[in-house]
Amino acid sequence: MRLMPKFIWLPLAAGVVAGGCATTPSEPTKPAAPPAKPISAGAAANMANNCFACHGPNGVSPGSIPSLQNLTAANIAEYMEQFKTGQRPGTVMGRHAKGYTAAEINALAMYIASLNKR
Ligand code: HEC
Repeated sequence: MRLMPKFIWLPLAAGVVAGGCATTPSEPTKPAAPPAKPISAGAAANMANNCFACHGPNGVSPGSIPSLQNLTAANIAEYMEQFKTGQRPGTVMGRHAKGYTAAEINALAMYIASLNKR
């Protein structure tokens, strides 16, 4: 039973195609990412003061919070990344680690580990 003439379908199909094109979102233009700035030793020292509030001066903890003094830079960076992803369980460190970029974590780890050798 083909009562509907073909010519009725043509404009319909054309409409669907045109509509489809019109609603395809155009790719948003992203602003260029700013070039990564190297983190100075001074900036790392400032950031590390946040850590020392809990982990003790220079990461030598007077209380039950683990000391950072015996960790290598690689350890610190690794643990921080693990806290970030939740791979390493923690009470406060997960939330804390998320506030730092990978570059900041590396700078912190290098700085804190450099203190440990003194
Ligand atoms: C609010 C207090 C607090 C602050 C601030 C803090 N930490 Fe922690 N940190 C902890 C506690 C408590 C733990 C034990 C794990 C947990 O419960 O989250 C810990 C664990 C760690 C560990 C694992 C140590 C181990 O031997 O297992 C590392 C590494 C660490 N913190 C690094 C840092 C660094 C680097 C900073 C600064 C960016 C920092 N922490 C800031 C409280 C803090």
